[in-house]
Amino acid sequence: MKLTRRDFLVANSAALLATQLPGPLAAADASAAASAKLAKDGGPRAVTGKPGVRVRWDAREKAQLAAAVDQPSLFYWAGRGANKQTALFIERFKQYCPREYVATCSSGTAALHIAIAAAGIGPGDEVITTPITDIGTITGILFQQGVPVFADLGAATYNLDAKSVERCITPKTKAIIAVHLTGNPCDLAPLKALADQHKLILIEDCAQAWGAKYRGQPVGSIGHVACYSLMDSKHIGAGDGGVVASSDPKIGPALIKFSDKGNERTTPGYTWDKTAVLASNYRMSELQAAFAAVQLERLEGLAAKRATLGRALIEEISNLPSVIPPDLHAADRGTFWFFYFRLRLDKLRGTRAEFADALKAEGVICAAGYIPVPVYKLPYFQQHSFFAGRWPIKELGLTTMDYTKVTCPEAEAILTTGINCTLHEGMDEAYIREVGAAVRKVAKHFAV
Ligand SMILES: Cc1ncc(COP(=O)(O)O)c(C=O)c1O
Repeated sequence: MKLTRRDFLVANSAALLATQLPGPLAAADASAAASAKLAKDGGPRAVTGKPGVRVRWDAREKAQLAAAVDQPSLFYWAGRGANKQTALFIERFKQYCPREYVATCSSGTAALHIAIAAAGIGPGDEVITTPITDIGTITGILFQQGVPVFADLGAATYNLDAKSVERCITPKTKAIIAVHLTGNPCDLAPLKALADQHKLILIEDCAQAWGAKYRGQPVGSIGHVACYSLMDSKHIGAGDGGVVASSDPKIGPALIKFSDKGNERTTPGYTWDKTAVLASNYRMSELQAAFAAVQLERLEGLAAKRATLGRALIEEISNLPSVIPPDLHAADRGTFWFFYFRLRLDKLRGTRAEFADALKAEGVICAAGYIPVPVYKLPYFQQHSFFAGRWPIKELGLTTMDYTKVTCPEAEAILTTGINCTLHEGMDEAYIREVGAAVRKVAKHFAV
């Protein structure tokens, strides 16, 4: 970065002034000048505290795993009499997110595929969703021969914008997948209203939002289907795993079938020959269920902590001309799987990468951006080449979708202007307030 005359004056004026002032004021001003100097330029780091450690599991998980190992079988079903872990997990999940039918499965991706299949999505059916998400949100739509349709997002919620969703609705639309990105609840009321009006299935992808609440209710309890991930990096986990849940009398009973090769498991033995659906094996074992059942007991504590820290950080970085903090509704609880804020690059000298590097030097654990491009820009979308280089439903004329023509300007801007900060329950508020001070310091330094 080139040093302009203005940079020089900003960096040196307080120090110059300090030399002309007598006594303690001079000292205070000199120290203000020193602390305004970026750590990357040799100034003091804004973050002096330690981020703390996430205690993710301990003797309680070990004890529950031992109880599972004492069972005669580790299969999730086996009558659910002798095998207790999946039943325990489901019981606790229902306490957390009251849904009538709950199925465990092997991943969040599996949960979403099961949801799409159980919702009856078939060849050419359109499913509206977000272009900023893990690919696991999307693969199930494609495997069921549906068509992902990408709507644009709120500038600082990073979640589906209901108006954009409405513009995407066609006679072929069958479902909406609302992803609660970063742990910030989507505005579900207008999405539910659209779903009701157009008879669409609303699927909530809660993979990043364990413990988050929309107007006081747990995410996953408002749409027709809830999908959660227990993948290792999530708020709670089991190494891998997933949960899919519904209270819909048509969808709910189909969840087990689509997670277990078509079996209904209402009677001992196989039933896939009678249920006649093509479904994969997405089962989760008793070992993962045992582990996850204990993880669920930890959830409220860690979710509450993340919610408090996230709100504190929003407060710290609000009212800066060059920073757009995440937009979390006052009545909602965000649980910050990560903390994402945006830069107004027109209000800054320098690039996002320079901003992120300066923040890192201050001691903030962060990175520029999230996923590299919106999902529709991935090569196999641009080439419509999902299945061995082909996309049969397009060849058959069941869709005219052309991903080379799709643009979601806000989503693209979110990805090119965002900074992704690590936030977790091992951190304390003093540390998070220092992270806020670091953002303010760097923003001030780069301000135009
Ligand atoms: C929003 C979202 N949806 C779906 C998934 C897929 O979950 P899994 O990795 O358990 O398959 C993830 C995982 O990162 C995710 O973040």
